[in-house]
Amino acid sequence: MAETLLFAVLMLLASLHDSDGSLRFASYYGDHMVLQKSPERAVLWGYGPEGAQVTVSLSGPINHKTLPVTVTEGIWRVSLNPVDAGGPYNVTAAIHNSTVILTDVLFGDVWLCGGQSNMYFQMSQIFNASEELALAAKYPFVRTFMAALNLSKTEQIDLILVELPWSVPTSGNLVSFSAVCWLFGRYMYDYLKYPIGLVESCWGGTPVEAWSSSRALQQCGLGQTEDSPKDENSVLWNAMIHPLLNMTLKGAIWYQGESNANYHQDNYNCSFPAMIDDWRMAFHQGSGGQTAMDFPFGFVQLSTYQKESTDNGFPEIRWHQTADFGFVPNPRMKQTFMAVALDLPDATSPYGTIHPRYKQDVAYRLTLGARAVAYKEKDVPFQGPFCNQIILTQTYVHITYDQEVSVTPSKDIFEICCSKIKEQCGPKSLWVPAPIIQWDLKTVQLSISSCPSDEVAALRYAWRDWPCDFKACPIYSASGILPAPPFIANQYQRYGP
Ligand SMILES: *[C@@H]1O[C@H](CO)[C@@H](O)[C@H](O)[C@H]1NC(C)=O
Ligand SMILES: *[C@@H]1O[C@H](CO)[C@@H](O)[C@H](O)[C@H]1NC(C)=O
Ligand SMILES: *[C@@H]1O[C@H](CO)[C@@H](O)[C@H](O)[C@H]1NC(C)=O
Ligand SMILES: *[C@@H]1O[C@H](CO)[C@@H](O)[C@H](O)[C@H]1NC(C)=O
Ligand SMILES: *[C@@H]1O[C@H](CO)[C@@H](O)[C@H](O)[C@H]1NC(C)=O
Ligand SMILES: *[C@@H]1O[C@H](CO)[C@@H](O)[C@H](O)[C@H]1NC(C)=O
Repeated sequence: MAETLLFAVLMLLASLHDSDGSLRFASYYGDHMVLQKSPERAVLWGYGPEGAQVTVSLSGPINHKTLPVTVTEGIWRVSLNPVDAGGPYNVTAAIHNSTVILTDVLFGDVWLCGGQSNMYFQMSQIFNASEELALAAKYPFVRTFMAALNLSKTEQIDLILVELPWSVPTSGNLVSFSAVCWLFGRYMYDYLKYPIGLVESCWGGTPVEAWSSSRALQQCGLGQTEDSPKDENSVLWNAMIHPLLNMTLKGAIWYQGESNANYHQDNYNCSFPAMIDDWRMAFHQGSGGQTAMDFPFGFVQLSTYQKESTDNGFPEIRWHQTADFGFVPNPRMKQTFMAVALDLPDATSPYGTIHPRYKQDVAYRLTLGARAVAYKEKDVPFQGPFCNQIILTQTYVHITYDQEVSVTPSKDIFEICCSKIKEQCGPKSLWVPAPIIQWDLKTVQLSISSCPSDEVAALRYAWRDWPCDFKACPIYSASGILPAPPFIANQYQRYGP
């Protein structure tokens, strides 16, 4: 009953959007906004009286006027010629007897920030919040926008409600903005030196299924299964992502997975990459081919939740976040980048240990990935060390990394699985510590004395919810900045179908 009512309200709101017939821009175009710069074309759309001819003009450093387009079924849409980074511009939409104007519009790169509570986590909640907020005034060219938390059973063409219209940052309006999103934008501005638009659309406690279209869920057999409450599938995709498809974007960043640690966990290696594929396809189509069909997608690998926990949820999700490769980009997840965060635990977070306050580190690691993957900067280290060879001898395991490593010895960060039967090891198998006994520039040697060498069936690294103390994992890049991501290597794994 309540649901039917909500549905009716949603339908009403949706129809209100386009029924009054006056000339307007869609909800997420506003004063102070950032539109995607060249080489892409920014797409603009809105509402108007049926049949009216709409022209959009740009005035500022360059002037430009589009050819007229006709309002059809209450909607008009144009794409601008490519505009270089800069501004400010006024963007005016005009029909014969009325005009609407967006002022102080900048051109730059637009990034979408999605996910659950760790993306929603606000600037006021991080460490050094007041110092960070005081910097707002130094970044007038990083602009923020936030969609309201709304859900829908059907795909919406526009946002139901806007939480924060496009804003020039102030310490006041940043207080409740996403910390990871803002810090990412601010660090990218320091690097790029041109405007950055940040679109926050995220919601705490939400599984990946809510952000995925039914198309994407079907790819992973999550469409019509008994155990998936279909009422919750796609509701945020419908209300908070689908409406944005028509705007041109540079890329997206994402922090989510906690809600899947115990919910369709085994499917996450399918559902997460499938969601990325689907968003890419849909944003590309929605923008008439302007948003790249392989737009860069960055994400945060899960941090930590419960110290001493032996629950397998977080380790499994971390692995599945990489489609079980352990690192990104990889053949299944091209043009992606990942901030490893398992070494950033916050045991005394007032917001619960699942919400660490170290968002500066997370955002900084994301920007390294963005520079390398999205902006193709050469030679920027953005991935922690990953093993590319594992050799088992009678008494040791020798691991060779893909780069030089900085090692702190540990008795138990590596574990081996002892098994008499030649089968893949799982969470319930017998795992025993394999101490680090020696290391070199690129190699680490482990003792396997706790297990007969012909019974060593698998090896894993940092396979725990909370594997290390703050920035104190045993393996980092030589610079000491990038932690090695966790991995599991099974000798008897069946690869491929
Ligand atoms: C934009 O419009 C405002 C007021 O509508 C005006 O003051 C300003 O000069 C305009 N700027 C440009 C670049 O056209
Ligand atoms: C503008 O013209 C439309 C018809 O195209 C009419 O419906 C509308 O009332 C007019 N608006 C104003 C403000 O004159
Ligand atoms: C907070 O600021 C201090 C002083 O600038 C700095 O040393 C510290 O690393 C900062 N903490 C975080 C989490 O960024
Ligand atoms: C949308 O979200 C706003 C604020 O977050 C809330 O007030 C409103 O009731 C929501 N509307 C719907 C239809 O869910
Ligand atoms: C995903 O992980 C599950 C177990 O966690 C495994 O059974 C399945 O083969 C994996 N699927 C893919 C596509 O990697
Ligand atoms: C936005 O994109 C979707 C998906 O391509 C399309 O169905 C819809 O008509 C577009 N909306 C507008 C206003 O152009």
